[in-house]
Parts: sequence; C-alpha cells; structure tokens
Amino acid sequence: MTERALRSLDGRVIAVAGASGNLGPTVVHRLAGAGATLSLAGRRAAEVERLAGAIDGPADATAVDLLDDAATRAWADDLARRHGHVDGLVHLVGGWRGGTPIEEAPLEDWGWLEQLLVRTVQHTTRAFLPHLLASGRGRVVGISAGQAQAPTHTNAAYAAAKAAADAWLLAVADRVRGSGTTANLVVVGAIVTPAMRAEDPGRDFTTFTPAEEIAEAVAYLSADAAAAMNGQRLTLRGAA
Ligand SMILES: NC(=O)c1ccc[n+]([C@@H]2O[C@H](COP(=O)([O-])OP(=O)(O)OC[C@H]3O[C@@H](n4cnc5c(N)ncnc54)[C@H](OP(=O)(O)O)[C@@H]3O)[C@@H](O)[C@H]2O)c1
Repeated sequence: MTERALRSLDGRVIAVAGASGNLGPTVVHRLAGAGATLSLAGRRAAEVERLAGAIDGPADATAVDLLDDAATRAWADDLARRHGHVDGLVHLVGGWRGGTPIEEAPLEDWGWLEQLLVRTVQHTTRAFLPHLLASGRGRVVGISAGQAQAPTHTNAAYAAAKAAADAWLLAVADRVRGSGTTANLVVVGAIVTPAMRAEDPGRDFTTFTPAEEIAEAVAYLSADAAAAMNGQRLTLRGAA
C-alpha cells in the first residue's frame, strides 16, 4: 500500500461563509483537494447541501443567515464542538448594487450593501475568532475588490462597503498578530468562473480575475506556507 503524501490543508477544519455563490464552488473544491475538512454555510439549505455532497472529502452544510448574530455563533460553536478545533474562516458572501452616478444612486443601496458585505464579516469574524485563536494556526481570508481602494463614481456605496469590510478584516489581523493566527485579503476584479466560461465560450474575459486563481490564493493563505503573512492584500488584478 502506498502512503498518500501529506497535503497542505490536511487536518484543518475550515468554515466557508457564502459557499454556494459564484466563487464558492471553485474555492471549496480547491480547499477539499488540499485535504481540508469543510463546513459550508449559506441561507439556502438545498444549495449548500448539494455543494457539500459534490465535494470529494469531508464536508458538512449549514443553513444560516449570517445577519443573525446568534445563528452565526451557533454555527461556529457547533463546528468547534464537533471537531475540537476550527482552523479557518473564508468569507465569500457577496453581491452588488450600483451603476448609477452618486447624486442619483438610492441611499437604500448603502444599507443593503452594508448588511451584506460588512455585517456578515463582523458576525463571522466575531463568532470564529475565539476558535481560531484557540487553534493557534487559524486563518481568516476575505475577498476584497479593486473598488475598495480605487472607487468609481457609479459604485460609491459598493466601494465604501468593501472598504469598510477591508478595514474590519485588517483590524482582525491586528487583533491576532503574534498568535499564530492570521487574517488576509485577496483583492480581485470582476470574477470569471468555470460556469461563466461554459455559458459564454465566445466572450472575452481577459480583464476578469479567474476563480481558479482566487482559489489558489485562498488555499495558500489558509496553509502553513503563509504563516508569516498577516494583514496583507494579495492582489490578483495584474492582468486587468
Ligand atoms: N463576483 C464578482 O465579480 C466579485 C468582484 C469583486 C469582489 N467579489 C467578492 O468576492 C466574494 C465572493 O463573491 P461572489 O460573487 O461569489 O458572491 P455571491 O455569489 O454574490 O454571494 C455568495 C453567497 O453568499 C450567500 N449569502 C448572501 N447573504 C447571506 C447571508 N445573510 N447569510 C448567509 N449567506 C449569505 C448567498 O447564498 P444564499 O443565497 O444561499 O444565502 C450567495 O450564494 C465576495 O466577497 C465579493 O464581494 C466578487
């Protein structure tokens, strides 16, 4: 019998918030391929369950509204209780409103985006931080957008929300500094997924960030190889 080589995420339990969206499937398959045990969360139970069932490796699915603080904490605490440790949190909850000049854009968009892009980061990081610190090698990975640092006038609310999420995650990095746990950001442009390419094979996606490259970055930041990296923005927009 041949022994399987140790993979970079073997033995790690990683929670993925917003797993069943555009980027989620590519990221979770990459993390599972590196040996991680995954816990996938989203609001739609059927979607996260279907994704967990398609993963080649240990994975469970939890239907949780990440705007519900108590439910988010229950997800984190239950995961830690079942496995004895939680080693990673990957935040993938996304969504967009915009495309209208500042003076015309409805301010209601800000409220919606703040909840989706900032409050879910706040709830998940606060719920998982005690467990990630206890792990001693915890990892937090968030996905930022170029807009957070270079806003355009038709994306003011979106850019402001992503910038606020960045600041929160960089504050988390400050909180965990020196503990063995880290928090980092992957900065991306518009994402192209395998499904998008399959749906529109003739389209030019050269200015997009490929989901596969983002998944590589998330796997890297989640592993021991990135133990010395904390509070950084890993930018995958060079080709745009
Ligand atoms: N897509 C892009 O082009 C792009 C560009 C720049 C940056 N980003 C960033 O990349 C990351 C991933 O983006 P994405 O496009 O993959 O995101 P997405 O598909 O829009 O959202 C991911 C998932 O989040 C879940 N979600 C939303 N609200 C939730 C809540 N209250 N509780 C629990 N789950 C919730 C949704 O699942 P349910 O419906 O099941 O809840 C959704 O499938 C995000 O941080 C995004 O801001 C994306």
